[in-house]
Amino acid sequence: MGFNSWYAVGSEVTEKFMKDNVAVLLKSGLANKGYRYVNVDEGWMKGRNESTGMFYEDLEMFPSGMKGFGEWVHNKGLLYGLYTSRGIAQCCTAAYVKRCVPSKRSGIYPEGSNGFEENDAQFFANAGADFLKEDSCGASEDHAVAYGDYARMRDALNRTGRSILFSLCGWHPWYAPVGLSLANSWRISGDGNDWRAHLDGINKMAAITRWTGPGGWNDPDFLMGPPGPKAVGGQNELQSKAQMSLWCIFPAPLFISMDLTQASSNLMEIWGNQEAIAINQDRAARAGKRLVGGNLTLGRTDKSPTSTSSTTNIWAKQLDDGAWAMVFINTGPVAVDIVCDVPTCIAKMGLANVGVTLHLRDIWVRADIGSVPADSGISVKNVSSNAGVVFLRVTPSFQEQELLQLV
Ligand code: GLA
Repeated sequence: MGFNSWYAVGSEVTEKFMKDNVAVLLKSGLANKGYRYVNVDEGWMKGRNESTGMFYEDLEMFPSGMKGFGEWVHNKGLLYGLYTSRGIAQCCTAAYVKRCVPSKRSGIYPEGSNGFEENDAQFFANAGADFLKEDSCGASEDHAVAYGDYARMRDALNRTGRSILFSLCGWHPWYAPVGLSLANSWRISGDGNDWRAHLDGINKMAAITRWTGPGGWNDPDFLMGPPGPKAVGGQNELQSKAQMSLWCIFPAPLFISMDLTQASSNLMEIWGNQEAIAINQDRAARAGKRLVGGNLTLGRTDKSPTSTSSTTNIWAKQLDDGAWAMVFINTGPVAVDIVCDVPTCIAKMGLANVGVTLHLRDIWVRADIGSVPADSGISVKNVSSNAGVVFLRVTPSFQEQELLQLV
């Protein structure tokens, strides 16, 4: 859990921007709730010195240098993340390329870590990094080559002797499950610039959530809010709430990527909801499953009755204490009721015909909303359109009378 600069400011990330955002993490209580990694994405360096092999840091953007800024982050009691790419060249926006130093290998683009893994891992360790995101720009998409690239950085990071969480940013679901042997998390989809892109990530997650757990996580990209003036992407608050609900169920890494100095109190409550965070961080770390529905669409273009796509889904994950977290989501253009019926939904949770009562707690409303016999199903009314979501904690229990009969 933490903060990442990318969707907020793209490559125009500065030390001041990062410090302002750390101030919000600390003051709002988000840091105490677990958002502890402070991660700088693309834009902190200007390329590589061709004679020494060392990165050129961009001291105009980060006057303290990356080691100095890392010390500042650590002094705030937080963890520090840096970024590179496994390719010959780094990713590079048009604005960024103007301040970069060209090289023979990568032309106008800043050089990536390909072939420089030992050197760069040492740099990251010396800078005090606790986290490294390694992107896939300027690199081969061949699976074996990609795995080899990431294995080289994994080994180089391990050789530094510093504990550095390694987050590979490979953009494809084929990093599951092999990602577990390469890194601590692996990006399974392209950039989640907006809600439509997040639907793609959600649909990809549906096939692979089983390959996640302590030490290695599927990563469907960052949490985001509405676009700001320098933002690279954005979505509305309803979509942010739906995203947070599903990221808790998957479960997925929670990295907020928006300018927190501009975040509404609603968004701060969504990302700071401790009942939601507890579901994300649940000790059992079981995989969330899509119980009902197919691949989510926005519902305007896909009207074919034979299609396997849907505008509603029900997702669930069993928690360490035996309760279930459930997400009912509607991506379609009109509000709808969503029903977890007995044969196609309750039965998949193993709760059909066992005589249990389900106690329902609404995570977003922060209230207990009643109890139903499991054999009646769970019906959620009027879920709003375009990313409406209901997020429940569902606790099964036997009624006292039934317990007495069992003894
Ligand atoms: C890729 C990654 C993003 C971000 C940008 C930086 O697109 O997937 O998360 O790091 O590069 O250019």
